[in-house]
Amino acid sequence: MRVLVAGSHGKIGRRLTRRLAEAGHEPVAMIRDEEQADEMAALGGHPLVADLAGDVAHAVAAVDAVVFTAGAGPGSGPGPKQTIDRGGAEKLVDAAKAQGVRRFVIVSSMGADDPASASEQMRPYQEAKRQADDYVAASGLDWTIVRPGGLTDEPGDGRVAVAGSLGRGGKVSRDDVAAVLVAVLADDRTIGLTFEVLDGDDDIPAALAALAVEGDR
Ligand SMILES: NC(=O)c1ccc[n+]([C@@H]2O[C@H](COP(=O)([O-])OP(=O)(O)OC[C@H]3O[C@@H](n4cnc5c(N)ncnc54)[C@H](OP(=O)(O)O)[C@@H]3O)[C@@H](O)[C@H]2O)c1
Repeated sequence: MRVLVAGSHGKIGRRLTRRLAEAGHEPVAMIRDEEQADEMAALGGHPLVADLAGDVAHAVAAVDAVVFTAGAGPGSGPGPKQTIDRGGAEKLVDAAKAQGVRRFVIVSSMGADDPASASEQMRPYQEAKRQADDYVAASGLDWTIVRPGGLTDEPGDGRVAVAGSLGRGGKVSRDDVAAVLVAVLADDRTIGLTFEVLDGDDDIPAALAALAVEGDR
């Protein structure tokens, strides 16, 4: 599968690009700085320069799926969160629809289900995430919305806890989130699911399969 990774140079994105290549996919690594191209190629990605603040239509050409794992980052204010976390995702949804790319996976955030209860500092972020999620869910595409808890750089162990709502906060390694994203692309039963993910005890493909069965009930 040829997969556009928006945010490929990010901490999840780099792990995802490498994992996709290792799994035999063709990751198209969206970067906004040409100088990142060699690094992405070394991870197995086909570098493609596009800025989410500008035109991204060309990025979606000839891909089978899009994974959005970009973000303006914790140091940014509400404006960039609207432009990148929300607007960038929405632009890619529109581009995917226009070019007939059906599969769309977005990295959202735990807490996006209820931005009103976020701290004042986190609210613009959670609102932007929620708005992007709502746009994805209304797109008519074959979407999956993945909501991780607090991200860590710990090595992944291939085990997580997933549920529509886990009912608790916590942390999850970026490495395992990347593994979840690869597994989501491999399992079409995850289409139409929105779920939270934390470090946990469950094997990733099995956990996703169980989630899909619950979603059918
Ligand atoms: N931090 C947390 O605890 C947490 C929790 C839940 C969910 N999340 C979400 O998880 C996702 C990935 O997190 P992460 O830690 O991997 O983030 P990250 O390392 O900050 O990566 C974000 C990526 O987005 C890219 N980006 C930013 N603006 C862009 C633009 N205008 N055009 C193209 N690309 C742009 C960045 O590019 P450059 O490399 O060029 O800067 C970077 O590669 C984000 O959506 C984040 O909101 C985070």
